[in-house]
Amino acid sequence: MMAAQSNGIPGILGECGGQAMCATCHVYVGENFIDSLPACSEEETVMLEETASVRKFNSRLSCQIHASDELDGLVLRVPSEQLW
Ligand code: FES
Repeated sequence: MMAAQSNGIPGILGECGGQAMCATCHVYVGENFIDSLPACSEEETVMLEETASVRKFNSRLSCQIHASDELDGLVLRVPSEQLW
């Protein structure tokens, strides 16, 4: 979420500042990286029920994804409903 905001990626509001309390940082994770991410916390799971766009099997809150060498090449897609 912070990397997206710092680089002007549209559609990632991050209204709660990364506290998993707003779902305005919802993204779809590239399928080849789904298993590389840690499981959703209970808070993230609850917030993914409140997204403005359709929740999919690869939905995550981008603020809960922490960059690491293991995620080099990760592709995240912003739901079109978040692109105003
Ligand atoms: S920034 Fe609010 S849930 Fe991610």
